[in-house]
Amino acid sequence: MASTPSTRDPIAKALSLGRDGRSSKAWADVLGAMPLFHGLSHRHLRRVAGKATVKRYAPYTAIVRMDDTGDAFYIILDGTANVRRSGKRNIKLRPGDFFGEMALLDAAPRSATVEAETEVLTMRLGRAAFQKVLDEEPKVASAMLRTMARRLREAQPAVTD
Ligand code: CMP
Repeated sequence: MASTPSTRDPIAKALSLGRDGRSSKAWADVLGAMPLFHGLSHRHLRRVAGKATVKRYAPYTAIVRMDDTGDAFYIILDGTANVRRSGKRNIKLRPGDFFGEMALLDAAPRSATVEAETEVLTMRLGRAAFQKVLDEEPKVASAMLRTMARRLREAQPAVTD
């Protein structure tokens, strides 16, 4: 028998299960494929997935807005989004990329607008859940710091001497 999309695609499978015990196992499989969660056991992935909610955005919708107060962190599961900063080039975010961490970490306003380019499916962690994941999962915290260090380098003008 030909497989249906829901058995081929881990995201479609997790979406098809709704919000029961089996779905947190399916969402753990989805998160395990994201670089931010590499190295976490399935038990830990399930714990993270249990704190998150899935949110879908239409193309061209602002997911977070520059200067707003931050209340959540997002990982892109599907689709692409643009980080829009005044006077600077846009940065494209793809599946596996995260955003929204800065305003949660330093309690300052959102540094940029992040806008869906296509339809975007995200995994959202509210402020308290985000803090709990960082406290409980040092591997996630260090993966996040590595990405933030790379973004900082890329944001700085090249130094020539
Ligand atoms: P935050 O400031 O909470 O909300 C906007 C988000 O855009 C920010 O967190 C980062 O996740 C993301 N962002 C801001 N600047 C950059 C950048 N230079 N490269 C990649 N992502 C960025």
